[in-house]
Amino acid sequence: MSKRPLCHLSTLGLVVGLIFFVTTGCCLITFPNYNRLTLKLNAVPDARGLSSNWLPYFNSGGKQDYSIFYDNKSGATNPRRNLPTGFGKRTNLVELAKKLNLTVLVDLLEKTKLDNTLDHEGPFTLFAPTNEAFANRPSYCDNVPLKDLLKYHVTRKVHLSKDLKNNELLWTLLSYRELRMNIYKNGKVLTASGRHIIKPDNMASNGALHILKDVICSVYIGSAVLEINRCPAYSILSKAVNVSGLYSILDDFGPFTVFAPTDEAFNKLPPETLNFLLKNATALRDVLLYHVVPEVWYIAGLEDGQLLKTSQGTKLKVTESAQGVKVNDAMIGLPDAAVSNGVVHSINSVLLPPSYSQEQVVFNKIRPKVNISV
Ligand SMILES: *[C@@H]1O[C@H](CO)[C@@H](O)[C@H](O)[C@H]1NC(C)=O
Ligand SMILES: *[C@@H]1O[C@H](CO)[C@@H](O)[C@H](O)[C@H]1NC(C)=O
Ligand SMILES: *[C@@H]1O[C@H](CO)[C@@H](O)[C@H](O)[C@H]1NC(C)=O
Ligand SMILES: *[C@@H]1O[C@H](CO)[C@@H](O)[C@H](O)[C@H]1NC(C)=O
Repeated sequence: MSKRPLCHLSTLGLVVGLIFFVTTGCCLITFPNYNRLTLKLNAVPDARGLSSNWLPYFNSGGKQDYSIFYDNKSGATNPRRNLPTGFGKRTNLVELAKKLNLTVLVDLLEKTKLDNTLDHEGPFTLFAPTNEAFANRPSYCDNVPLKDLLKYHVTRKVHLSKDLKNNELLWTLLSYRELRMNIYKNGKVLTASGRHIIKPDNMASNGALHILKDVICSVYIGSAVLEINRCPAYSILSKAVNVSGLYSILDDFGPFTVFAPTDEAFNKLPPETLNFLLKNATALRDVLLYHVVPEVWYIAGLEDGQLLKTSQGTKLKVTESAQGVKVNDAMIGLPDAAVSNGVVHSINSVLLPPSYSQEQVVFNKIRPKVNISV
């Protein structure tokens, strides 16, 4: 299996025009003292349009730069209850990253001048890759302009691990791009667009910092079909999706996991089978839906032996080994391409639903020359 990136980011189209979802000014609220803060709390949150449970307020009144995190769930009378670790620290996000030895990240923030924003504005959540993560980043990562890549690692508002929901989408500082949060393995694995959060909830004066094991390199440009259409390695799949009539489903619905056979994979089928499928939309649809799982499974969430129920109705089996991750007999090549409605993994063989090797009629038509034992 080629290690060449199939299409991650190679033509990352940058959307012109920034949208500011929250003006930074709305988070800078002057509260001279603690009592005053408790008195004002009920009135402020909704008027300011903040919806997170944890509402950071910045005391910019005096010379203090500490912040107060108010847990809306615990009631306005005692905002100091259940405060996250690090509460009251005077350290801003950039300083905190330095303290945590995230030196490569800090250098890059300085290089792109994003440090000037992250050291006093907010509140933000910074998804902070370790130095090793930057050293081991895949080569396609460098196709993303550095500043955009870093902006994709920062969300508005404070998002603590305990408040996250599976498949929650968080707007980033990069226009129109969201991070997809997933909770896997009974909460033991938390991911941001598929990248593992190894140390969550480090608190700074202007937000939270979650340490990531890998850089989030897959900055999507659109839906699963868009990813398939723009990638030269998927030309047969692109055609098949169109013939099957699944285009709008894979464009508009989701979230899905799509196991995407490359041209190499389709070309392993007997030519008669491929021709049959491309002429019979019903059969093709059935086969393609066997490649779609109506849940988001990044590799970090998969477990050996796991069964994934497909949109076709029958299940795929996941196998993990030293060679990599397989679904049935297909090996995942390039994993974890984030798309707006899920994730796409490339695979090196076409998956055929069980009925296609069991039912004699279909079997004869689909696999005319291959002897299959079930
Ligand atoms: C915070 O709590 C107040 C008082 O209980 C409530 O009116 C308000 O809707 C809550 N705001 C949010 C964002 O949950
Ligand atoms: C950062 O690195 C220093 C020196 O290598 C070490 O003493 C310190 O414990 C590290 N801190 C963290 C949070 O890893
Ligand atoms: C499938 O349809 C889309 C949208 O109409 C188009 O952009 C794409 O080129 C088509 N793919 C093929 C292989 O014809
Ligand atoms: C198309 O495929 C379906 C499902 O496999 C099958 O029932 C049908 O007979 C096929 N049609 C033709 C014209 O081969």
